[in-house]
Amino acid sequence: MNIRPRRNRKSAAVRNMVQETRLSVDNLVFPLFLEDGQHIKTAIPSLPGIFRFSLDQLLLEIESCVELGIHSFILFPKIKDELKDATGTYGINPDNYYLQAARTIKKQFPQITLMSDVALDPYNIHGHDGIVKDGKILNDETIAVLTQMSVLQAEAGFDYLGPSDMMDGRVEAIRQALDENHYTDTGIISYTAKYASAFYGPFRDALDSSPVDLKDIPKDKKTYQMNPSNRKEALLEGELDFAEGADILMVKPALNYLDIISDLKQHFPLPIAAYHVSGECAMLMAACQNGWLDYKTAMPETLNCIHRAGADIILTYFAKDYAKMQRGLSIG
Ligand code: PBG
Repeated sequence: MNIRPRRNRKSAAVRNMVQETRLSVDNLVFPLFLEDGQHIKTAIPSLPGIFRFSLDQLLLEIESCVELGIHSFILFPKIKDELKDATGTYGINPDNYYLQAARTIKKQFPQITLMSDVALDPYNIHGHDGIVKDGKILNDETIAVLTQMSVLQAEAGFDYLGPSDMMDGRVEAIRQALDENHYTDTGIISYTAKYASAFYGPFRDALDSSPVDLKDIPKDKKTYQMNPSNRKEALLEGELDFAEGADILMVKPALNYLDIISDLKQHFPLPIAAYHVSGECAMLMAACQNGWLDYKTAMPETLNCIHRAGADIILTYFAKDYAKMQRGLSIG
């Protein structure tokens, strides 16, 4: 035998030397859930180890992450029911607590990369990412609100805005609005290929943002999020976001969509992000809590494989544990 692939696997030193990809904590983005109030740290039952924080507690959380080498965060707000309305107006209130929190965070941690969520679902009563009329999620009317939201978020100091709404044409509209307001340095991490997935459940629990069961309100997001059976269509979305001025293209979820991550990585000269979503993390945690899988090996394998498929950036609830493991600290 001339070719014996096992030679390159014979010791840890050899395996490390020939390792093709290496996931660094620098590539990770840690999602943070924010709630208005003080001294709040609420566990999210369907996402063990992840909490919803009031700002005072969130600042401590960010500090502990920064000490572990995590420098990128994406912030999601839970909005009180009494502040929600049919069109999500609280989202474009310049003094809303989400924008205030961003200002405080960036003031205290100017060196971190802070990403936002641009969508209406946390702010409206029906849980949709856009404005709903006669049972339809309106595209262009939604964009008009999203551009306002984007300018406010840029003003608050977010480094990247994350349109997660999947309306057509929103990246171009947001880019234009940002530039007109001189926020030329604020980036757009676009949810380019966001699928109508069953794996967002724990996130919607965390934010109480599930589409509600009301007459004339669609109960799912299938008229704007992509069909999980489609692959080519992700390239179309990629072409649009690339042409419209996105800085980073995102695929969401990650694990069932590794082919999409790989496609976008090959086709576009932009960084590719993957959102390893709440349900994907919950699934693995549940198996580990049952003793059916070993967290210390299954978790890093999962993240490394998303990276190998082509994700330069991974948004994951495991960021903190991965960072601890990289430093040889104990987890769990
Ligand atoms: C909504 C949004 C969702 C997630 C991020 N932004 C949920 C949805 O589209 O219903 C899901 C993230 C996760 O599950 O971890 N704008």
